[in-house]
Amino acid sequence: MIHPAADGEVLLRTAAPVLQRGTTVLLDNSDCFGKSSPSYGRSGLATQEALRHSLCELEHGEVAELYPSGLAALSGAILAVCRSGDEILICDTIYGPTRRFAETTMADYGVTARYFPADIALGELEALIGLATRLIVLEAPGSLTLDMIDVPAIATLARTCGVLTLIDNTYAAGVLFKPLDHGVDISVQALTKYVCGHSDVFMGCAVARGEVGAMLKRSSRSIGWAVSSDDAYLALRGLRTLHTRIERHGAAALEVASWLAAQPLVREVMCPALPGTVGHDLFVRDYAGGNGLITIVLDAPETAATAFLDALRLFGLGYSWGGFESLAIPCNDQIRQRRFAAPCESPVIRLHVGLENPADLISELQIALSACAQAKDNEQSPRTY
Ligand SMILES: Cc1ncc(COP(=O)(O)O)c(C=O)c1O
Repeated sequence: MIHPAADGEVLLRTAAPVLQRGTTVLLDNSDCFGKSSPSYGRSGLATQEALRHSLCELEHGEVAELYPSGLAALSGAILAVCRSGDEILICDTIYGPTRRFAETTMADYGVTARYFPADIALGELEALIGLATRLIVLEAPGSLTLDMIDVPAIATLARTCGVLTLIDNTYAAGVLFKPLDHGVDISVQALTKYVCGHSDVFMGCAVARGEVGAMLKRSSRSIGWAVSSDDAYLALRGLRTLHTRIERHGAAALEVASWLAAQPLVREVMCPALPGTVGHDLFVRDYAGGNGLITIVLDAPETAATAFLDALRLFGLGYSWGGFESLAIPCNDQIRQRRFAAPCESPVIRLHVGLENPADLISELQIALSACAQAKDNEQSPRTY
């Protein structure tokens, strides 16, 4: 067998962080058994430690736990703080798979879930809180429909009632909003989106302070969540350009959203960063800016969505967002799974505005809207032979 020639002591200082791969940690002498930490690579080496440190800085937290996907971070954080007999109150506009986790795995563990609409009055939410309520799960702006909620007010109410709060902070990427500074207990992100930023890594994190942070850490170590050093390195790389990218995504999305709002075939633009849209006042009070997400409702039958989507070229058709590229998805089926969704027979389409030139994206949307208008006309006056 050939032994590697170099050991840690010959490492030079580099501008980029260290990519340290490894499972076994070699101890200095026999006295270190049971005393040295970390003594095994599963909970992370230098690269994961650098990432955890950076995420604490980003989210103003004290503990950052890493998970192999955003969904794993959401489920891992919920598992860390809930016990059998507890109840979770969940905002209805949460990311769909979080709802599925609550209704399957958590239900199996004896944890019940109840939902509330994003526009619930604070007093009504207070009335929902009972003796068994352990956790309120939020997402702002909400998935797909980008509904704003008053996060600081809900966090204050929850604290008064002795209930924990968790927010899916993926929209803000830790840059546009700092939930822990507003009284939220756990901030979760799908790092898969803006932090990694290049559509090639799955990862999630949960960040907290004090006792809640210790609970996250304990649960994470006991379950054995781990992320690879290579993926942690890519997340660290993404963090270096995160602020610049998100600013660019936000500015381009605002340009596209303003244009869309003026199009006759667009019935509604959901984009809280756009003045005049629902939730804008709350958004400018709490958020430092918008990201690349916009959702539109077209003034056409739901079937006309196909014509709109199939006319797109720069916008890829695919789930996810937060990467460099523009994407589009139809949302009606996912929205129908909500408890409080208003019935909608028109196409609801979520766009992610990537780093392309916004003028090119607008030209393409113009073509897609024309295709949709054509499909609408054909449907309204079918040809007779
Ligand atoms: C708001 C939100 N949270 C969490 C996730 C899950 O992230 P991941 O795909 O890394 O599991 C997604 C994925 O689309 C998301 O949109």
